Amino acid sequence: MSEVRELSDAEKTFLEPYLPPRAADGRKEAATHNVREQHGETAETVQTDGGGLPFVTLTYASSLDSMISLAPGIRTTLSGPETKSMTHFLRMHHDAILIGVGTAIPDNPGLNSRYLGATLDSQPRPVVVDPKMRWDVDSSKLAQLAQEGQGKAPWLIHTRHELGEEALRGWGGRRVFLPSEAAPTGQTSESAKCETIAWSTILKTLKRDGVDSVMVEGGATVISTLLSMPELVNTVIVTIAPTWLGQGGVTVSPAPKVQAGKILGGGAFTMNQIIPKTALKITSGGEPSNYQYKGDSGKSVNCYYCPKCTTHIYHQQEVMGPDTIIARTALLPEARKKFEVGAEIYGKDKMSWEKEIATTFQTLPPS
Ligand SMILES: NC(=O)c1ccc[n+]([C@@H]2O[C@H](COP(=O)([O-])OP(=O)(O)OC[C@H]3O[C@@H](n4cnc5c(N)ncnc54)[C@H](OP(=O)(O)O)[C@@H]3O)[C@@H](O)[C@H]2O)c1
Repeated sequence: MSEVRELSDAEKTFLEPYLPPRAADGRKEAATHNVREQHGETAETVQTDGGGLPFVTLTYASSLDSMISLAPGIRTTLSGPETKSMTHFLRMHHDAILIGVGTAIPDNPGLNSRYLGATLDSQPRPVVVDPKMRWDVDSSKLAQLAQEGQGKAPWLIHTRHELGEEALRGWGGRRVFLPSEAAPTGQTSESAKCETIAWSTILKTLKRDGVDSVMVEGGATVISTLLSMPELVNTVIVTIAPTWLGQGGVTVSPAPKVQAGKILGGGAFTMNQIIPKTALKITSGGEPSNYQYKGDSGKSVNCYYCPKCTTHIYHQQEVMGPDTIIARTALLPEARKKFEVGAEIYGKDKMSWEKEIATTFQTLPPS
């Protein structure tokens, strides 16, 4: 029944430079995990910033119009016998396969390797990022394959602190607690809409648990996010199917390359005022949307913008504490008329074609 065939020598030679380096001692996650348990460590006590990163391969199948499925949550076949064989060959060469819960629920994938000669030992470890534990793993294909000895039992990454780390009932696998990134001021991580775990945390945790290489298979959110973080990715393998899926499909695309604030602000310059948080009243348009990035200090900057027109309203920098915000006053027409531009800061991020409008400091002025 398997459509998976052995790759030719030429195909293997072609893929060779893109494969993870082979671990000298074969697969070793179980051993590493045992060591961790012997030391009495739990998910909460283990530091996740200790041990480097695994080799990361991003793979996905795309249509000619860069779509990976017909609509959100619709499983869409974009592979043929050749690409399927390559996928199963690649799976056998990785310690783990990772997907997001947005793929696990609709696709119910097996994530094992049916390549000729694959044994249980050479199967990759399935890893599902499911922060809110939305997925019913017990009735999944992954559970079935693990119980039949045709695949390893999955690891499920979640953000429910109270559950911590637990073994999955009866058939192996485990839930792994990882903290979500700091929620914007005024929201606990539980009340925040999104419970995002830093990708560096996810990858370092896998490495810590013996995963030297991970093949990331989707879906759109996971792939798009990682395409924006080339420093974490070693190889990208995209197969392109000769078909158009049409508008409304799910696209894969990294974040814009132009600094987000400049797009949201609608101009190359912004003028900012540092004010107490209590001084700002949003009087129309509802709750602002937000996103977060890391500033030069490595600390978080939480940016708030109008969800309808994307105008950037204010941001709150972790370095300045929770009670102070930076309001973008120059976006208001009357503020532009009232204030002269005294100096430009962060000139290093300015678009190269923009003329200087005042004394420019590459970052902040010297104190
Ligand atoms: N053609 C292909 O190669 C291919 C491959 C795979 C999937 N697909 C398709 O892609 C579509 C699914 O894409 P998708 O974007 O909806 O789903 P996805 O990327 O598989 O999963 C997204 C979800 O995973 C969780 N997640 C991802 N990154 C996280 C992080 N850093 N921290 C915490 N949670 C994180 C979040 O769950 P919560 O929502 O619970 O917060 C997020 O909404 C499906 O239609 C599927 O068929 C296509």
